[in-house]
Amino acid sequence: MAAHLNEPAGRVTLESLRRDMRDHGAWAEDRAVTRLLHALELTGGARHRAVATAMALVEGARARRDERPFLDAFLQEFGLSNQEGIALMCIAEALLRIPDDATADRLIAEKLATGDWSSHAGKSESLFVNASTWGLMLTGGILELDPTIKTDTGGWMRKFTRKAGEPLVRLAVRRAMRIIGGEFVVGRTIEEALARSARETDVALCSFDMLGEGARTQADAQRYLKSYEHAIDVIGAAAAGRPAQEASSISIKLSALEPRYSLLQHERVMRRLVPLALALARRAAKAGIQLTIDAEEADRLDLSLDVIEALAKDAVTRDWPGLGLAVQAYGKRALDVIDWVAATARQQGRRMTARLVKGAYWDSEIKRGQERGLDGYPVYTRKLTTDVSYLACAGRLFKNADVIYPQFATHNAHSIASVLELAPADADYEFQRLHGMGRLLYAEAARQIVKFPRVRVYAPVGEHKDLLAYLVRRLLENGANTSFVNRFMDEEVPVADIVRDPLSEMERLETYAHARLPIPIALYGDRRNSRGIDLGNPTEIQTLREELSTRPPTLPLAGPIISGKLLPGGARPVTNPADRRDVVGSMRDATPDEIVMAFDAGAAAQASWNLRGGDARAAMLDKAAGLLEADRAEFHQLLVREAGKTIADAIAEVREAVDFCRYYAVRARRQFATPERLQGPTGELNELFLQGRGVFACISPWNFPLAIFAGQVTAALAAGNAVVAKPAEPTPLIAARFVELLHQAGVPPQALHLVPAPGRLFGEIAFAHAALAGVAMTGSTATALTINRSLAARNGTIVPLIAETGGMNAMIVDSTALPEQVVDDVVTSAFMSAGQRCSALRLLFLQDEIADQ
Ligand code: FAD
Ligand code: 2OP
Repeated sequence: MAAHLNEPAGRVTLESLRRDMRDHGAWAEDRAVTRLLHALELTGGARHRAVATAMALVEGARARRDERPFLDAFLQEFGLSNQEGIALMCIAEALLRIPDDATADRLIAEKLATGDWSSHAGKSESLFVNASTWGLMLTGGILELDPTIKTDTGGWMRKFTRKAGEPLVRLAVRRAMRIIGGEFVVGRTIEEALARSARETDVALCSFDMLGEGARTQADAQRYLKSYEHAIDVIGAAAAGRPAQEASSISIKLSALEPRYSLLQHERVMRRLVPLALALARRAAKAGIQLTIDAEEADRLDLSLDVIEALAKDAVTRDWPGLGLAVQAYGKRALDVIDWVAATARQQGRRMTARLVKGAYWDSEIKRGQERGLDGYPVYTRKLTTDVSYLACAGRLFKNADVIYPQFATHNAHSIASVLELAPADADYEFQRLHGMGRLLYAEAARQIVKFPRVRVYAPVGEHKDLLAYLVRRLLENGANTSFVNRFMDEEVPVADIVRDPLSEMERLETYAHARLPIPIALYGDRRNSRGIDLGNPTEIQTLREELSTRPPTLPLAGPIISGKLLPGGARPVTNPADRRDVVGSMRDATPDEIVMAFDAGAAAQASWNLRGGDARAAMLDKAAGLLEADRAEFHQLLVREAGKTIADAIAEVREAVDFCRYYAVRARRQFATPERLQGPTGELNELFLQGRGVFACISPWNFPLAIFAGQVTAALAAGNAVVAKPAEPTPLIAARFVELLHQAGVPPQALHLVPAPGRLFGEIAFAHAALAGVAMTGSTATALTINRSLAARNGTIVPLIAETGGMNAMIVDSTALPEQVVDDVVTSAFMSAGQRCSALRLLFLQDEIADQ
């Protein structure tokens, strides 16, 4: 363990553990895996035995295939073929998104009558994306759907309905919907779920999960809170004083309780969420049941631990051994989390629980890491490593069993067998599985293994409308070809292939990091990805905050920059649109003469700029990208203060500008490196090069004052044009700073000029100037049309106009959509990125009234 400054050497504190955790999370994967391998204590003999046990479990489960009755019974009951069963499952899954039964029923009836499935689901193919998953669940093997089902769903449905009869198909679809719901959810209410738990031995011991996560509104958070409170009371009553380990328990997701559950909102989360979570913990303690905090996305881990620490420090619940959390083995910080839990429990003199899972968000962690331009992924990139990490973490849990009750959640026979090997003889621990998964395997384990530990079932409870996010993770898990459950019942896959010892496999690897999954920064083959900021890392957030609050020593000034000189003149203040008292800098518009001067100077310099060739220009753009990354703090501050951006948007915008510089550098090298001479009309070679046209006017909008400004200017420069840029009226400071940066990167001052000016004045002069060779503008359609008319009125060569204009689209969201997805994808993501003014957004959300009754 690393010693830290200000702490006696070797003294391990909760804080030092948290710091180590952050450091380890930032380690390169090969280094992280090496650490993992050192932590693993599993002898050769144990590894051998684990494989043998796992093989026996899989073989045993396969021999009892017919004990997976629900889907088989479904086929039998309706006399369906496998093909028909899978197709109906896919259709039912789409229909599940309709929140109320009556509308779903009406839609089924309508679809069966018209056979029109494609219009509802967009492309009919998309209805069947999960066909292989259902195939696996239904038949244990991959089954390709008959192509006509996909290409002509309507026709296939009509034929099928004629053959089977409409009432039967209708009933079968409804039953399929109920199976999906019932298979993954134990009940619609906690009472229903407990009644089932009392009835069915399979789900006798549960950790109930009241569906709901990622609250987007306070009303949602309130609703989820109420359902947790009620569930704790009811589960507690049913526990009837049994020891916590032997009673059903509850799992909660912190993101359900706070709509702004992110590290950037740390202060708010600690102020608002902690009291709620604390009250839930006290309630669970009083009821005598365990409360486990589920593990969610990696960038919420640090925040979750802060909340959990606050709960662990609560003296009122100190004697309660039920406070716990899930630990994701696929995360590079997993071992550290366990060390921290153990240290926290010891420090607070309490026992805690830890559920070891592998992690349910791998795909999104990878995608998110790439999108954010992180230096590495928060998770391992090989399935094997996750398996090994699981075992290293299992060992660590057993080592801390004096203060932690270990719970092993897995559906993998090899992981189960290895945990059995790692467990000390007298260990008290349990296994866990998800409802709808792993039943056969655990039944087999209980049959084959003497004194197999207790098995608890993670049991979702709730309505269809809250199911989707959870269901998607289960379908991903069932469908992933790396996943154990995907293959273990498939007779085509030899048993030995699915229970291999992960350590032996690892020994054969050249690099631990996955060779085909480059780190985010190296995502693109031909250029570096722009560097992001990890908003899940408190240290990075702290630096960001400090940078944002440090004011520049002098107020920045914007004005005409012609041939590299900022021309002086009476300036007026530029203020923060969010707080007009905050003076960000000052600016002066260019005069008509100065605009003419800029074009004249650009025209004089363009030929020599063009002659430099694409390689030289690319080098400057690459240098500009580097400078922009180095100075990003200054740009973040300008974007927040001059343009009124959020911090996250400011980060994304600087990155986009960096990407533009590098992207156009690549294009310059690729397309403009070798000057081609133009043939004159009589065949003579003249000195014109194909690349540059002349002087480009670049007119950019206020909503992306850096990214779009940079995109237009660097594209025009890369192609060998001189540029006269006009920034949006509200954001001249950002533009001036970027122009200065391009000059610093080597772009000749004569080739790039800045003229802040009112749009109309600029247009009158620029579009009439003889040297104008092209216009790039982003803005309203009306302005683009005006520019188009002005250009058309010119005599001489046609001047191209590249116009990126705004549009106003109506979007109708019906009740089949997941509202959270609409909010994320449309409101916060697409609309913001497309720069739509929020006032222009009118979202019509149609919810069938019946659903609310
Ligand atoms: P396996 O098939 O052996 O492993 C699948 C794991 O490998 C997944 O984690 C997957 O992401 C990972 N993987 C796949 N490809 C790669 C790759 N290329 N590189 C690295 N890793 C890879 N999940 C949570 O996130 N939070 C929770 O709170 C949580 N609670 C759970 C509670 C219970 C009772 C159970 C059973 C599961 C819970 N899960 C939770 C879900 C859990 O993460 C998955 O069910 C689990 O990953 C499946 O692991 P396995 O051993 O059954 O399957
Ligand atoms: C999930 O919600 C089970 O917590 C896990 O995917």
